Amino acid sequence: MKLSRRGFVQVSAATGAVARPILAHASSMMPDGKPWPSIKVGNANQLSAGKPISFNYPDAGSPAWLLKLKAPAYEGIGPDRSIVAFSGICTHMGCPVAFKGGRFICPCHYSMFDPAKNGVPYQGLASDYLPQIKLRIDATSGDIHADGVSGLIWGRQNDAA
Ligand code: FES
Repeated sequence: MKLSRRGFVQVSAATGAVARPILAHASSMMPDGKPWPSIKVGNANQLSAGKPISFNYPDAGSPAWLLKLKAPAYEGIGPDRSIVAFSGICTHMGCPVAFKGGRFICPCHYSMFDPAKNGVPYQGLASDYLPQIKLRIDATSGDIHADGVSGLIWGRQNDAA
């Protein structure tokens, strides 16, 4: 079967959109076999919808954002399944992203990522999802822990911390 350039791009986009969420859940371990660090990054009681809190994960050189959305989100935690966290580094060329108007925006080339939909890029030059940080909540205390990353943080060769 001969595939036109346009057909190849359409098929690639469709399979990539399906494959990414599946791959994102493929491993709870880093490539070197060690578990991801588990770090307390906040408490549900300190979160207000639309007001992100910064933290670093999986190490001090990796800025990230913890936020509560106004509606349930993919992989969201908490009673409303609306608490999510993402790498704060744009997947295009590594500029810091900011949360504004319900989305992450990169000021360098204006890529936009949807935090409710796994960090999917939907505008601008970034072609890869913003890495989503796996969260766990203690139902009693409301403490939120980061336990892993789905996706490759910009500038890294692999997911290892
Ligand atoms: Fe973010 Fe280019 S570095 S869009």
